[in-house]
Amino acid sequence: MFKCKVTQKKIKPFMSFGSMPLANGFLKKSQFKKEFFYKMEVGFNEDLSLFQLAEQPEAKLMFNKDYPFFTSSSNFMINHFRLFSKWLKKNNYLKNNYNLIEIGSNDGTFLNNFKNTSINFFGIEPSKNMSDLSNKKKIPALNFFFNFENVKNLKKSIGKTNLITAANVICHVQDLNSLILGIDLLLNKKGIFIFEEPYLGSMYSKVSYDQIYDEHVFMFSAHSVKKIFNIYGFDLINVIPQVTHGGSMRYVIGRANEHKITKNVEKILQYEKKNKIDSFEGCLNFKKKCLESKFLLKEKINRMKSMDKKIVGYGATSKSTTILNYCGINSKHINCIFDTTKEKVGKFTPGTHIPIVNMKDFNKYNKDYVYLFAWNHKDEIFRKEKKFKKDGGKWFSHVKL
Ligand code: TYD
Repeated sequence: MFKCKVTQKKIKPFMSFGSMPLANGFLKKSQFKKEFFYKMEVGFNEDLSLFQLAEQPEAKLMFNKDYPFFTSSSNFMINHFRLFSKWLKKNNYLKNNYNLIEIGSNDGTFLNNFKNTSINFFGIEPSKNMSDLSNKKKIPALNFFFNFENVKNLKKSIGKTNLITAANVICHVQDLNSLILGIDLLLNKKGIFIFEEPYLGSMYSKVSYDQIYDEHVFMFSAHSVKKIFNIYGFDLINVIPQVTHGGSMRYVIGRANEHKITKNVEKILQYEKKNKIDSFEGCLNFKKKCLESKFLLKEKINRMKSMDKKIVGYGATSKSTTILNYCGINSKHINCIFDTTKEKVGKFTPGTHIPIVNMKDFNKYNKDYVYLFAWNHKDEIFRKEKKFKKDGGKWFSHVKL
């Protein structure tokens, strides 16, 4: 277990989700006996208004050559990153001949938008299978964790980088101190860092506690991001809410006193204060809602089973690991989970051992209810799976669909 210098101080634990396996630890039957578990507990750092895991497994256990998450598995996300690249240009965060680095570039979905342009770009991606895939697609990616020690070697980029981006990555980074020092080293005077992450305010309002799992060390808010970056001489200069991942926030960071701070920042800070997203009180409200949500979900599933209904899952997401293990839902309740990722098909869900099967068989399979684990992609999925509903099938989830 890792402890980060800046953020581990004074955290007040307030809720345990019990014994948890790795969220992306999809496994074969032969691996059941040696499965890794840790105690998943969350806490709040009042100085930084930061919601975080109390402890997290070693990064190497999670981000390795077998990492099974591909950004390009969702058409919606491909389009999101296309629009993001346009937005960067429109807002002058990216201009001709700029130097751009993406942290956690995954399979290159975002950087693909800059092929054959004047932008000088490359990604930094710690999972070897992903950086290999990206390089194969001629989207340059270096294979290491982004931290101060590693980026010190990027001599050509030091002090010369105009823009650094990251999407759904920074909440995974245990040592924020080293990350921010690395960003500071690479950016030029006017350089900008833009990142987007699942938003604490959205998790609270949707009670989507499945955003909490081993990889997500932090659930950020405008308050926490502002406080953390202020320590290192940076300002939060803009914030833009996003619909991705069930409700995210895009944060724009620049060196202090180098940029105008937009009105959006103050608006979001006010919203967070009003809704107690900046304080421990918000955590306690959230805990109460999680307990209620668990109770209602178990009751619903038990009712379906008592009527002999057949339940399957849709999307073997990382998020589903939290739901299934916390609520004690396993293969007695859910026959199988359909997924498009070939690396997951034929394996079993972490901890609860529900078989993962090929999405191409979804329509053929006899079922009454489908648990939508990939609820954050519901528009895209409902559009694809009209037939199931038309034939009388029912979707459900722990969040409102
Ligand atoms: P996502 O919610 O992005 O992932 P996570 O919780 O892991 O961050 O969902 C990704 C998973 O859902 C991935 O295993 C692929 C699967 N999926 C489908 O099977 N079909 C789909 O149409 C979509 C959008 C996702």
